[in-house]
Amino acid sequence: MRPFTQLIATSLLSSLTTTASSQDTSNPKRGIAYLGTEHPNDYNIFLSRQSPITWYYNWSPYPVGRPSSFRDIEFVPLLHNLNSLSSDLRQLGNLPSSSTHLLTFNEPDHDTSGGGTNISPEDAASAYINQIAPLSVSNGGRWLISHPSTTGTLSGLNWLQRFNTSCYALNETHGCHADFLATHFYGDFPALASWLGTLDEYYNGNASSDAQLPIWITELALPQQSATANEVMMNTTLPYLDGLEYVERYSWFGIFREENANGWTGGGVALLDDGGDLSGLGAMYLGGGFEEGMSADDGGAEGAAVSTSRGSSLAVVIGVGLLSLFVGGLV
Ligand SMILES: *[C@@H]1O[C@H](CO)[C@@H](O)[C@H](O)[C@H]1NC(C)=O
Ligand SMILES: *[C@@H]1O[C@H](CO)[C@@H](O)[C@H](O)[C@H]1NC(C)=O
Ligand SMILES: *[C@@H]1O[C@H](CO)[C@@H](O)[C@H](O)[C@H]1NC(C)=O
Ligand SMILES: *[C@@H]1O[C@H](CO)[C@@H](O)[C@H](O)[C@H]1NC(C)=O
Repeated sequence: MRPFTQLIATSLLSSLTTTASSQDTSNPKRGIAYLGTEHPNDYNIFLSRQSPITWYYNWSPYPVGRPSSFRDIEFVPLLHNLNSLSSDLRQLGNLPSSSTHLLTFNEPDHDTSGGGTNISPEDAASAYINQIAPLSVSNGGRWLISHPSTTGTLSGLNWLQRFNTSCYALNETHGCHADFLATHFYGDFPALASWLGTLDEYYNGNASSDAQLPIWITELALPQQSATANEVMMNTTLPYLDGLEYVERYSWFGIFREENANGWTGGGVALLDDGGDLSGLGAMYLGGGFEEGMSADDGGAEGAAVSTSRGSSLAVVIGVGLLSLFVGGLV
């Protein structure tokens, strides 16, 4: 018979090994659309060891400072509008080499009052072709570049068609070079699938196989509906997007408390409740092992599940064990 301590050591070791070998929960497609709120620590659970999240963006070329674990995932800069373009382009040079993709112009087809940038296709094409396209890897630069991200609507498609026309008027042979596409989508699952099909057909329908452009959905949700309706939508949507080859990345809108949701989307889209814990939707976005009500600073199994390194995970397990002994002694 093995001594008791050895038994504990062996089972502890084997559970650690099991944990370590079953660890790869990362999902190359799933990201964070970072909306700064007064609760930076709410993001910790999305940046934890077992989180699938691999990348984020924040509608700007300036990475997030807090929490510092944002440095562990890829930051994707975005050139938001024409007014800030010169300074935003200069800022690109300050980004780490882990940043490889570049997003451009946020909802140029939409009014500024509704969160868009209201840029005419002609102005966008001219700035894009002169100042952005030269930064593409295919033109000797360092970036993989997306066309402007329009709303996922027919007016968005119409804007992209006029943008394309303007681009070819400026450069007859190449138009505005893109390495990938980014779009927003708000609505239910069938409408999302239909929009993606439309966009893929428009860009890739006649393109040769080596010219196919992958698509990112950088804002995504079912607005003005309940949390339950969003859960039903997300439940079908995540497996669909994960399995769809031409979809390269996506990010839900959004990771904020229900009270921080804007009036247009409504609180049903929020991945966090008003205490900063995961909503049912948030738990689904993080997947296996995460549950509604969890947060990064919970103790016990939850704390272990979300701590950021194997070492601290062991410390949490031991810490919680000691704590329960201590509490047991008090009672
Ligand atoms: C069109 O774009 C291509 C690739 O970006 C570039 O090599 C070419 O010089 C451009 N042509 C004109 C007329 O600007
Ligand atoms: C693709 O080809 C079809 C059939 O020839 C044509 O009707 C359509 O306009 C083309 N689409 C684009 C984006 O060129
Ligand atoms: C963009 O316009 C060019 C020139 O008219 C056309 O050949 C190309 O098919 C268009 N591309 C898309 C995606 O519409
Ligand atoms: C969707 O719901 C089913 C049934 O409750 C569940 O088994 C599955 O894990 C859910 N899918 C996702 C992506 O959460």
